[in-house]
Amino acid sequence: MAVRNASQGILADENRETREEIIELLTKAYWMEVETVMSYIANSINPDGVRAQEIVESLQQDIQEELGHAQQFASRIKELYGVVPGSLEFSAEQSYLQPPEHQTDIVHVIKGVIEAETGAIEHYNRIIEFTDGLDWVTQDMVIAILHDEEGHRRLFEGYLREYEAEGLA
Ligand SMILES: [Fe+2]
Ligand SMILES: [Fe+2]
Repeated sequence: MAVRNASQGILADENRETREEIIELLTKAYWMEVETVMSYIANSINPDGVRAQEIVESLQQDIQEELGHAQQFASRIKELYGVVPGSLEFSAEQSYLQPPEHQTDIVHVIKGVIEAETGAIEHYNRIIEFTDGLDWVTQDMVIAILHDEEGHRRLFEGYLREYEAEGLA
């Protein structure tokens, strides 16, 4: 007996086109997370000075979370009958998270992180809206990831406020 395809939900035959659109959104999210991992590794190691310590430790923790997000996006791509892309398809976009001229320039790092988190928040809101009523599982997963990114953004906004209050940003 042939295996029956799902007749309802996002895995149903007639939802193939919708699935492909969702896979495209998930693939972009996957690359964003992978690039964030690279940027956060560099920016958790490059900074110099006592003031950098808090930022460095915070980024070290985030690396693991962002890596977990990349793995979740990859798994969901596969569940939707997609293929997780190979590294040759990667193209970098985070110009704002390149190493600063001076490694004591922590404000540059803080602002770069806020920019990366803001980009993620915007893209994940798009996925949540797109999947509404179409793919509850992707939507649920991305809502949880969005929660993490909002937390990251809020934390770094707090760091920036401190520097601003001291006239350093
Ligand atoms: Fe993330
Ligand atoms: Fe994040």
